[in-house]
Amino acid sequence: MGFFCLFIFVVFVNGKLCKDPKYAVANDFLFQGLNIPGNTENPNGSNVTLVNVDKLPGLNTLGISLARIDYAPYGLNPPHTHPRATEILVVMEGTLLVGFVTSNPDNKLFSKLLYKGDVFVFPVGLIHFQFNVGRAPALAFAGLGSQNPGAITIANAVFGSKPLIPVDVLQKAFQLDADVVAYLQRRFGEPSNY
Ligand SMILES: *[C@@H]1O[C@H](CO)[C@@H](O)[C@H](O)[C@H]1NC(C)=O
Ligand SMILES: *[C@@H]1O[C@H](CO)[C@@H](O)[C@H](O)[C@H]1NC(C)=O
Repeated sequence: MGFFCLFIFVVFVNGKLCKDPKYAVANDFLFQGLNIPGNTENPNGSNVTLVNVDKLPGLNTLGISLARIDYAPYGLNPPHTHPRATEILVVMEGTLLVGFVTSNPDNKLFSKLLYKGDVFVFPVGLIHFQFNVGRAPALAFAGLGSQNPGAITIANAVFGSKPLIPVDVLQKAFQLDADVVAYLQRRFGEPSNY
């Protein structure tokens, strides 16, 4: 099988130390616990458990990762992008309203109501979301085309950056009153920003 690129010893690939294959062990390729639901008692009402290269060293250089996403009733995985990965999602329980928006200038929304067993793809880099429109919890799993897909949650990145983006920039960009920008920065920013 050639060359594994795990955490330990000598060579760096993708920022991870590589391991000589003769020292690799089965546990380097194992993650346990994806049967355990994430806690959804947060303002989003959702929880993403991501198994990326940090949790499963054997993924290094292999270009995939896996996520479990739990949704409370009416829980939302809010609009976000993965800069390095396309995502393919399968609904295991519940009903999810999902969508992604294409890039400029069209900004076209592609959206579907997904039921148990439905599979949907979110192309790399595009803003997407999943919303549990059911009265029961929902569950999905997602494969991602990178061992380190990254995530940018739009609201947090824009209104909760550290330090904050100047109010006039956001006012103009989003065509909002300054007090609305300040309100959003209080919601998404950290107290240390004030
Ligand atoms: C997601 O669930 C895990 C496991 O219950 C918990 O430790 C973590 O704080 C939760 N994350 C959020 C954002 O609620
Ligand atoms: C919602 O979830 C995103 C992605 O996990 C997280 O970055 C954000 O902090 C959460 N927002 C709130 C208000 O909890």
